[in-house]
Amino acid sequence: MKQLEFARHRRLRNSENMRALVRETHLHADDFIYPIFVVEGENKRNPVQSMPGVYQVSLDLLNEDIQEAVDLGIKSVIVFGVPAEKDEVGSQAYHDHGIVQEAIRQLSEAFPELVLIADTCLCQYTDHGHCGVIEEGKILNDPTLDLLARTAVSQAKAGADIIAPSNMMDGFVAAIRAGLDEAGFEHIPIMSYAVKYSSAFYGPFRDAAHSSPKFGDRKTYQMDPANRLEALREAESDVMEGADFLIVKPALSYLDIIRDVKNNFNVPVVAYNVSGEYSMIKAAAQNGWINEKEIVLEKLTSMKRAGVDLIITYHAKDAARWLADK
Ligand code: PBG
Repeated sequence: MKQLEFARHRRLRNSENMRALVRETHLHADDFIYPIFVVEGENKRNPVQSMPGVYQVSLDLLNEDIQEAVDLGIKSVIVFGVPAEKDEVGSQAYHDHGIVQEAIRQLSEAFPELVLIADTCLCQYTDHGHCGVIEEGKILNDPTLDLLARTAVSQAKAGADIIAPSNMMDGFVAAIRAGLDEAGFEHIPIMSYAVKYSSAFYGPFRDAAHSSPKFGDRKTYQMDPANRLEALREAESDVMEGADFLIVKPALSYLDIIRDVKNNFNVPVVAYNVSGEYSMIKAAAQNGWINEKEIVLEKLTSMKRAGVDLIITYHAKDAARWLADK
């Protein structure tokens, strides 16, 4: 019989070691940024109902949790605050003794090597739950910028190593950069949530952080999920304003956007593997419908393959443990 001509791709899949030799994408614990929710009070470890395995933790119990992450090889955490008091202008966000500032102060002392990222936004701190100042039902852009810069400076003073503004007002990177520089923090980088879509995947986070808007939605500041070119415009302006990292959020339904951003900019790109993406997997796993470990590692690998350098993920500890067991 005449030899047929075709490609033999299976040659490179012959054994586990052969597959390891030709593997293009690798996950490591140092790819992960671990999100934590800090709450005021003592002896609190409140489970977040919609996010199994995620807790709001008070500062007296926080170091244990973080030690565990550090022992697993995780190099960075991003801190979200759940303040006891909220008001119209989110003053707890920029209070020198706000919950995030206190958490960062404590962690920078206890874990000097750990890279501490402060989420810089107002929605957890405002009584209306929006990310900016409100007048007559409108979210005002420019008056919000000053509050964001103040928040960033107070977080840097407390010991934050990176400022991560997530509020999607125009000009937030420029305002925060100027504020940091003026206060003597020109060495502190900005990890901008440059490309943040208005997404239903944030639902469980709003439970965890008590940050749902009390009226309306976030569609006048967060992006329309239908848009792709707009993501490049957002990323471009943030880089011009001084962003040192670009975040794309959410991740899983936006891998095309991650690739676009990676191909067009030379700064590190970060995926935010958001709460809804986490909770869907947790729910299916609890029902025994999927293999949680394999799905999580596949999903995180797909984000790296799409082009990210780092992944903010609630799976960080589990994934680091699974990688270590391999
Ligand atoms: C807003 C913010 C959001 C998340 C983190 N910070 C989204 C929002 O409520 O609009 C979502 C993160 C997640 O879903 O895991 N400052």
